[in-house]
Amino acid sequence: MTPEQVDLVLEGIERMRPRLPLVADAFYAELFGRYPQLRPMFPADLARQRAKFADELRALVVALPDLPAFLDSAARLGRRHAGYGVRVAHYNQVRTALIATIAAEMASVWTEEHEHAWTVAYDMITEAMLLNLR
Ligand code: HEM
Repeated sequence: MTPEQVDLVLEGIERMRPRLPLVADAFYAELFGRYPQLRPMFPADLARQRAKFADELRALVVALPDLPAFLDSAARLGRRHAGYGVRVAHYNQVRTALIATIAAEMASVWTEEHEHAWTVAYDMITEAMLLNLR
């Protein structure tokens, strides 16, 4: 991930900050619209989940410039996710829904560079979450 890509996602997460609860809402709507089979993995009431997801996504993005802290948080989150039954294929589905949601949220400024930077950031998070599962 280049320093410019890190800057783009950091700027993006700050820009979205006041609307992150709404973005998380839109993300789950997008995810379950595309992949309804994932819905039963989550609690019936998504209110707390939305807030936790938004907070964690922001914390991971903000930690990107501090690689050891980033890897540590992501790996711990990944270990918990293995316990929730989350598998590699699920990460691709979440990426599709998350990038589509962020693209819609940032539509007025969104470019190919944003798309690429967010995709790389998401993939870094995923790879770190999948590290050391054994
Ligand atoms: C950027 C990647 C992701 C982030 C930041 C994230 C964040 C979170 C957070 C903060 C929680 C609350 C519990 C905890 O902290 O352990 C959670 C729970 C959960 N996540 Fe994720 N997640 C991500 C990817 C995924 C993926 C790919 C799936 C697959 C469908 C998934 C499914 C779940 C499930 C099933 C729960 C538990 C719900 C429950 O039973 O309470 N997450 N996630």
